[in-house]
Amino acid sequence: MRHINVAVLGACGWMGRVHSNAYAAMARQFPEIQAKVHVRWLIDDNFAGATRAADGFPGSKASRDWADAASDPEVDLIDICLPDKLHYEVAKAALQAGKHVYCEKPLTDTTEQATELVALAQAKGLITRVGHGFPINPVHQLAREIIQSGKIGDVTLFRGAQHVDSHGSPDAPFIWRLDGDLARTGIVGDTGSHVFSFIDYLVGEVEEITAHCPVVFKERPEVEGAAYGSFSGGRNTGRRKAVTNPDLGMVLCRFKSGGVGTIDFSRIATGRRFMQRYEIYGTKGAITYDYDEITRLNVFYLNDANGEQGFRAIDVGPEIKDYRSFLPLANFGLGYNEVKALEASQVIQSIIDNLPAWPTFADAKRIVALVDACMASHASRQWEKVRS
Ligand SMILES: NC(=O)c1ccc[n+]([C@@H]2O[C@H](COP(=O)([O-])OP(=O)(O)OC[C@H]3O[C@@H](n4cnc5c(N)ncnc54)[C@H](O)[C@@H]3O)[C@@H](O)[C@H]2O)c1
Repeated sequence: MRHINVAVLGACGWMGRVHSNAYAAMARQFPEIQAKVHVRWLIDDNFAGATRAADGFPGSKASRDWADAASDPEVDLIDICLPDKLHYEVAKAALQAGKHVYCEKPLTDTTEQATELVALAQAKGLITRVGHGFPINPVHQLAREIIQSGKIGDVTLFRGAQHVDSHGSPDAPFIWRLDGDLARTGIVGDTGSHVFSFIDYLVGEVEEITAHCPVVFKERPEVEGAAYGSFSGGRNTGRRKAVTNPDLGMVLCRFKSGGVGTIDFSRIATGRRFMQRYEIYGTKGAITYDYDEITRLNVFYLNDANGEQGFRAIDVGPEIKDYRSFLPLANFGLGYNEVKALEASQVIQSIIDNLPAWPTFADAKRIVALVDACMASHASRQWEKVRS
């Protein structure tokens, strides 16, 4: 039985807590995994919170300095749940120290940074993984199998969207996600990258992009203690701060395979608490997905008998192992936290087997390149080639 020691960075935030919970549940939820996972460090600027979180992991330590994880020879895996800007610097230090790295999305601020990390990980022979967790939901394994089997033919059109309403109100407060220094690409790297992760997983590489990614609300109230989703109805304190990254993105793309895509995403879709959808049309059929029916795929085949054609709803269930890890019956629905636990379990399995699994840093670099191309196209008002 392997022992794998993990350091969770940004342990008190949303993702830090989601990842920590995944490790805590691993032995119960994934008994087949031949490793004992120990959370050794809980690291956060919020030292009191990290200390409290460490109470949940016997033998763990709290710190406010992420360098403690990189310099600890006992740490095997560094799990980065910090704001976007820190991903590159921390992942680089972790890889240089010989640690496997699991990093939240977007991997980096720029394609150049991602390229550097990919080369470093390859040179060191380390496992890397990025938290583009949505496609890990087993329902998308089925979508991928159907597409790769050729049953819907060649993909001609992809339509994808992801919207939240955290900042629909002009008076929803400023948070770090709206700061172009801490999150260079704003909503493009935030929710746009999730739609791009579906493109990478299901459709394939993108040749070129044109995008409009404006800052819709130029400033926001500063609200003490504001966090993602808090005070989304707005709170005007009289103090305002400039928003310095995009609020929304409208994107057209052309795939290397010849099809086209249309993608939109935002944080200002008032009333859309969380919306994520895709529609994939092919020469022989189509697939559609809506997060509101989280384990259901709608599939249409042109070769169904004339008069009997129509979308059929497939509820994935325990015939897929990753679903069976949680539930014995179909259509009970997997939650966000369960899918992230699955993702964390795959990271541990990758370390045991020394076998990378999608999305590695090399895969996530393609997603960063799409984000980069959107930012470049918005600035140039032109179609931009996606760098590979
Ligand atoms: N995969 C997903 O579905 C998903 C969902 C949400 C967030 N994310 C990504 O996860 C990352 C974190 O987002 P979040 O929503 O958890 O943010 P958050 O603000 O909830 O948490 C970030 C944590 O990092 C800590 N922190 C900030 N700077 C630090 C530093 N220098 N040293 C130590 N600790 C520091 C903060 O105190 C906070 O607790 C982001 O990159 C985001 O894009 C991914």
